[in-house]
Amino acid sequence: MELIFASSNPGKIEEIKSVLPSGVKLISLLDLNFIEEIPETANTLKGNALLKAQFAYDTWNKPCFSDDSGLEINFLDGKPGVYSARYAGIHKDNNDNMDLVLSQMEHADDRAACFKTVITLITDGEVHHFEGRVDGIIRRNKKGLLGFGYDPIFEPEGQDKTFAEMTLNEKSKFSHRKRALDKMIAFVEQQFKSVQ
Ligand code: IMP
Repeated sequence: MELIFASSNPGKIEEIKSVLPSGVKLISLLDLNFIEEIPETANTLKGNALLKAQFAYDTWNKPCFSDDSGLEINFLDGKPGVYSARYAGIHKDNNDNMDLVLSQMEHADDRAACFKTVITLITDGEVHHFEGRVDGIIRRNKKGLLGFGYDPIFEPEGQDKTFAEMTLNEKSKFSHRKRALDKMIAFVEQQFKSVQ
């Protein structure tokens, strides 16, 4: 079974390839030599994941999926949410984004936050959504050098390490993206079995 992943992010592509069942061949936008950015103009994670998956399905007419993630902070009424990548501006700088969050939360006692991922899969024109979530807290300062995005300021619940202090393997035990992906894989494996 071939599955198009509507992403050209090499890190994500590798992460997803490493966990897909062996009977599924992943084709990314890099494999398709597609270098344009697919517009993400919706105001929800689900809306953006659907836009990207629908674009890929309409373009290549094959089973495909996409993902969209964001950080939701209680004290900031769920922000940055769907705007996580560009919270401090369209230059999408991770440090600027974290600095903005830390300054907005300087006097906040409520540090609760969560990362969410929505994966949208389209097979035979049918749309399926899978969600993953990890709860945690926003630290008062950055810690750790690994990972990306908001990893240095996010500590998953019950841990005394930020995501930026965890190897990819450790992070995958909590990762919102991995949790959504596991749900999609279970679904794809079921479909794959029924067509064998
Ligand atoms: P994307 O939809 O996966 O590209 O995620 C959008 C933005 O959310 C990223 O640019 C990051 O700022 C943030 N983000 C998503 N997942 C993570 C994560 O696992 N760690 C840190 N930041 C993340």
